[in-house]
Amino acid sequence: LTTQAASALPENEPMQRNKEYADIDWDNLGFGLRRTDYMYKAKCTSNNTFEQGQLSVYGNIELSPAAGVLNYGQGLFEGTKAFRGEDGRILLFRPDQNAIRMQIGAERMCMQSPSVEQFVDAVKQTTIANKRWIPPSGKGSLYIRPLLIGTGPTLGLSPSPEFTFLVYASPVGNYFKDGTAPLNLYVNNESHRATLGGAGCVKSITNYAPVIKAVLRAKEQGFSDVVYLDSVHKKYVEEVSACNIFLVKGDVISTPSTVGTILEGITRKSIIHIARDLGYKVEERLVVVDELMEADEVFTTGTAVTVASVGSITYNDQRVEYKTGDELVSQKLYKRLVGIQVGKIEDKYNWVAEI
Ligand code: COI
Repeated sequence: LTTQAASALPENEPMQRNKEYADIDWDNLGFGLRRTDYMYKAKCTSNNTFEQGQLSVYGNIELSPAAGVLNYGQGLFEGTKAFRGEDGRILLFRPDQNAIRMQIGAERMCMQSPSVEQFVDAVKQTTIANKRWIPPSGKGSLYIRPLLIGTGPTLGLSPSPEFTFLVYASPVGNYFKDGTAPLNLYVNNESHRATLGGAGCVKSITNYAPVIKAVLRAKEQGFSDVVYLDSVHKKYVEEVSACNIFLVKGDVISTPSTVGTILEGITRKSIIHIARDLGYKVEERLVVVDELMEADEVFTTGTAVTVASVGSITYNDQRVEYKTGDELVSQKLYKRLVGIQVGKIEDKYNWVAEI
């Protein structure tokens, strides 16, 4: 920790912050935001390179009312996780992939982005500084949220003259309120998550607020989340609000290919890799909604969600139920992925970075 960051702490806090674990209920984490100790911040102004970042005490940031992110939604976010292994090691899962995805997104959104090295270093610094918030092994993870936002003022529609790269973190457990219970999904054919030529394939902040309405409506009706279809033909499966989707039929696993409107999930591609290594045939292709309804099994993947099996899908007043239990393909994939993430299964892919 920099002396500057440490000396900004209230007087009695450094003692607390040196403890191995924060004093919270690790058994009931859920996915709510918990304020942690430090965040990382770096700015990029006219010379198009990011300054060296600094850790500071976690807190509010000051923005111009004319900031590009506030007025025109010029912003990207990422999500990655740190885990505590049973042996006490602190492990990050593929943070370089988040860095690369942020660079691709920045190009689409006309933003400057940090280098892969700076991104990964920022994630590491934020994780170490907030170590006491990393849950005990098996109780969850530290969710790390890198953000890239246009912070410079702009009145006309143009790229922001200044960008800020921020990283903060929060301990998390399960994303969905019913924990690991199978999801009940609702296919919404009126709201669409993304359109061709839009920004659905990158992690733009503008992809998320527009789906909140559909999610709230689905939750009011007892569903866990929403499946979106393509906005042109209204029949091809795209994504769930915060995760990618897969189906299993016989011994073939299929998932929508990431053609413009679908996010290249890092968990998505890791699961495809693991599944192929386990001998499954995996197809990335157009998936028609009827195929979901006829599948043996459906599951979703995402950093926040990990791998979640689906118990039912409702589409056009028809509800189908899927088998559940430990024998599911999704459970095998989930165990293999989490085993690698927490250092229990050998990481032959070199995905895990120990810090
Ligand atoms: C993630 O899985 O990390 C996401 O970005 C989804 C977010 C809506 C929680």
